[in-house]
Amino acid sequence: MTNKDVKKILVGKAEIDAITTRIAEEIDRDYADNNKKLLLLGILKGSVVFMGDLMKKLTIPVEIDFMKVSSYGAGTKSSGHVNILLDLQRPDINTCDILIVEDIIDSGRTLSYLTDYLTLKGAKSVRTCTLLDKPSRREVDFNPDYVGVEIPDEFVVGYGLDYNEKYRALPYVGVLEPHAYND
Ligand code: PRP
Repeated sequence: MTNKDVKKILVGKAEIDAITTRIAEEIDRDYADNNKKLLLLGILKGSVVFMGDLMKKLTIPVEIDFMKVSSYGAGTKSSGHVNILLDLQRPDINTCDILIVEDIIDSGRTLSYLTDYLTLKGAKSVRTCTLLDKPSRREVDFNPDYVGVEIPDEFVVGYGLDYNEKYRALPYVGVLEPHAYND
């Protein structure tokens, strides 16, 4: 059953399942080396559903951690600042092969900044993974290493993504009905 506020489903449950299976296989293959210590780093809050499903499909050993950032300083989307609200605090960062997990890439600022930040902090390697990619919205030149699916420039909710903190628990990615924006 589709939520009454959802106009259309953009990425359904079956497609999400196929995406997580494919990406987990790619990660399994790329991080199979015993000398690697894979750390999945989820960026709160949107990534939690995708990361939960993805990690269950990995067969290699994995650790998890989280950061929280806000992309927009002083309420202006164009400012381009990324503020760290919850930092990664581990003494062993220099032995970690970090794979940042995101629900969506839009301007690219968050992942571009975090990749540089974690590299400077001394991570052994830093790569990026996103369920959704909106390449048409890019403001900085950034290409994630693992991409679920490219989507058009529509506002999407579900599977971790919110509108005013609602709809994160929907098991699919969808587009809202106009009335949902006024409720
Ligand atoms: C979203 C998303 C990324 C970021 C992507 O998070 O989860 O972190 O925006 O945008 P960018 O490519 O333009 O930097 P949001 O700020 O909505 O927070 P949330 O995950 O807690 O909903």
